[in-house]
Amino acid sequence: MESCLDYYATRALLDWQIELGVTESIGDEPINRYDLPDTSPKPKAPVAAPATPAKPEAVDPVAVAKAAASGAKSLEALREAMDTFAYCELKRGARQLVFADGVPGAKVMIIGEAPGRDEDREGKPFVGRAGQLLDRMLAAIDLDRAQNVYITNVLPWRPPQNRDPKPEEIGMMTPFLERHVALARPEILVVMGNISCQALLGKRGITRLRGNWDQALDLPVIPMFHPAYLLRQPQMKRQAWADLLELKARLRGGA
Ligand code: URA
Repeated sequence: MESCLDYYATRALLDWQIELGVTESIGDEPINRYDLPDTSPKPKAPVAAPATPAKPEAVDPVAVAKAAASGAKSLEALREAMDTFAYCELKRGARQLVFADGVPGAKVMIIGEAPGRDEDREGKPFVGRAGQLLDRMLAAIDLDRAQNVYITNVLPWRPPQNRDPKPEEIGMMTPFLERHVALARPEILVVMGNISCQALLGKRGITRLRGNWDQALDLPVIPMFHPAYLLRQPQMKRQAWADLLELKARLRGGA
């Protein structure tokens, strides 16, 4: 219906109707509400439970280490493989990887335990007080790290507060150590302290083991007191001296 009323008249009419109690306006044509589209709220379709994410396969760090180590075809590649190995907790607290020092291919390979504060800073094994004592011990039998020994550690990262490395840390880094020995091709291994004996000989008890030739990775091995221990227990230097002479004799083909 076309309206001929102006705004004010229309408004006045509406107000009047409201005053009379009108609550609903009715059109000119009847509405069949049964024909209207059903807009009533529908029950929601049940929401599918989110798919449970597949459980990640548990990683075996020793297996990862073995694969990474055996894939390294040179000392540089081994260093790289160790540097990118992500499963050893020690890596997080250390400044850098401490790989090796000395001469790769030297007859004697010395294996210590783990870097300390000085080694962590410099990125080289045995550069702190224990390292200086090691250099003096080597000099006593005419060996020099710049010329005729190669030096590394079981663990390439400094343990926090120099704590003892955990068995699982030793276990997962041992494949790298074994590969390190294979690539450096020494003739004799010197293992210093219990951690190194554990990693390479599978046994501890340095006081009993020291000075007695053993065998690991098809090489002769001589366990010795760790220089850090000798700094704390200087009276043990006598035995260390005997072990150095034993090593010297072996190098000269006399043992
Ligand atoms: N002690 C170790 O066993 N290795 C180092 O490099 C330094 C201290």
